[in-house]
Amino acid sequence: MRRLVRETVLTENDLVYPLFVCPGEGVQEPIGSMTGCYHFSPDRVAVEALEVAQLGIPAVLLFGIPGQKDEQGSEAWSPQGAVPLAIQAIKRACPDLLVITDVCLCAYTVHGHCGVLKERRVDNDATCALLAKVALCHAEAGADIVAPSDMMDGRIATLRQALEKNGFPEVAIMSYAAKYASAYYGPFRDAADSTPSFGDRRSYQMDPGNAREALAEMALDLDEGADILMVKPALPYLDIICRAKQEFKPPIAAYNVSGEYMMLNAAAEAGYIDREAAMLEMLLSIKRAGADIIVTYFAKEAAALLGGASA
Ligand code: PBG
Ligand code: ZN
Repeated sequence: MRRLVRETVLTENDLVYPLFVCPGEGVQEPIGSMTGCYHFSPDRVAVEALEVAQLGIPAVLLFGIPGQKDEQGSEAWSPQGAVPLAIQAIKRACPDLLVITDVCLCAYTVHGHCGVLKERRVDNDATCALLAKVALCHAEAGADIVAPSDMMDGRIATLRQALEKNGFPEVAIMSYAAKYASAYYGPFRDAADSTPSFGDRRSYQMDPGNAREALAEMALDLDEGADILMVKPALPYLDIICRAKQEFKPPIAAYNVSGEYMMLNAAAEAGYIDREAAMLEMLLSIKRAGADIIVTYFAKEAAALLGGASA
């Protein structure tokens, strides 16, 4: 009876697994701030991607770590960077695994902001032009979806135009449309070494108190050509996911971020909660709220438990 009347079913098809790629060969370094996550060189990430694909997870999301940072974050659009090399290696190893790439500058700039600076302020329009170079670099390497996570105004239109003009009309854009200035990004910033060296990201990320603004941001991104709209983080913003789902037709994604992941890990480690049960309940709640796609560091474990069945 329960199976028959169940409204929401979580499956491995809903999940995207984030992976951190760095320059070099034979590298698989554990990330101290994120249990079970690693920095992989392109050759090693291909092996990991194969395992992800075999678990039935449809997609990975790649984050790049540069060999060298500079003011502009220029390694972000180098064809020899870790991300393009990783895309090629993954596509060789498992051509059917969807490859999504993070498009941002914060891991690549010396100051750690998501855009380039003009007198210690992020220069929105100059940043959009550079993000287009990053997206094109990933598209040329074989990315299926680019995912801009910077929150500059107008970047979706700039990316869409650049992709169309350069022969990549089929590359989709998953926009981090409603990305909040959140305290839950801490472990990731250690992993990506992308903590801003001064100030914070509140001039481009959203105020946690605002919901209508999130819907406005999403409408703008759709208008500019986004194919998938993302809400980030997930758990503290289930209401935003729910409202986005009601308001818009295209797929809604939610990012179950590093702080949500490590918060659950820490509680389980301390013996306060049942790790597997809490994890599946957490992911199910995100789907029930309205997410069609869940980006989560739990993807491998959840897929292994779901194993083609349902939670
Ligand atoms: C920024 C970016 C962030 C994350 C990924 N890319 C947030 C931030 O540093 O402001 C966070 C992901 C996570 O916490 O899992 N472009
Ligand atoms: Zn960024």
